[in-house]
Amino acid sequence: MSTTSSDVLNRGFASTLREDNWWLYPAIILFGLTSFLIYGFWSAWQADFYWYSAGQEGFGGYLAPFYSPLLFIKEGVEGAAPMNHAIFGSWPAWWPQWLPPSPSLLILAVPGIFRFTCYYYRKAYYRAFTGTPPACAVGALPRKGKAGYKGETGLMRIQNIHRYTMYFAMAYIVIFFYDAYLSFFRGGEFGVGVGSILLLGNPILLAAYAFGCHSIRHLFSGRMDCYSCSMSGRIAHKNGKVVTWLNQRHELFAWVSLIWIMVADFYVRMVSMGQIVDLNTWGG
Ligand code: FES
Repeated sequence: MSTTSSDVLNRGFASTLREDNWWLYPAIILFGLTSFLIYGFWSAWQADFYWYSAGQEGFGGYLAPFYSPLLFIKEGVEGAAPMNHAIFGSWPAWWPQWLPPSPSLLILAVPGIFRFTCYYYRKAYYRAFTGTPPACAVGALPRKGKAGYKGETGLMRIQNIHRYTMYFAMAYIVIFFYDAYLSFFRGGEFGVGVGSILLLGNPILLAAYAFGCHSIRHLFSGRMDCYSCSMSGRIAHKNGKVVTWLNQRHELFAWVSLIWIMVADFYVRMVSMGQIVDLNTWGG
């Protein structure tokens, strides 16, 4: 009697008839997402050196993206933005003493939940972190006491909040474009620096990622029964083509935007700390 693929899958974790390097994809995801999480928490926990304007007052400067938007600012912190950049003013007294006064800790959950609930990332981290299964046609980690695959039922229905967090992501694109605009000025004078380029790339790539979102695709063009029956249908069809182009590259933009924001954040931090000299047209 010949061995079927389901016989092989039932032999346990990682058993497969596949002969390619199927393990490479989940291994890269595991490394990439773990690195991002470690860096993100480290950066958020620092609470300092998130701003750089070469000591100049007036309009302009670099703001590390993990700290944007600035809801509150703690005075007297090295590398902190001027107080007029805080939406609600100085640091609140209700903030727990055991937590660093980091503006990043106040806002990081919103983009974090958006990415965490993204349909692409879900596929990626279910495979890489929970191994259920780690790849197509590869044996899954045994789920003790659980009968079979249940999909995203029960508690996992929480993932449905993705369609709402998507609206917050749209707001972040606008905020990051404002930060990019700010980065092309120093002391009110227009110029360009390496930081400006990095901070401009950030919202462009975030937009490329977010506008390829499955929820956006549904919103823009997925609700129509007939595209050719009305003007709104024809517009939806045209919009849908753009969103579909981005949607087909959603994985690519998910990763490029993730790596870019990390590099931009690290760069601003290093420039603010004086570890990297920013090349720019302001000469300082
Ligand atoms: S599905 Fe990935 S951002 Fe919405």
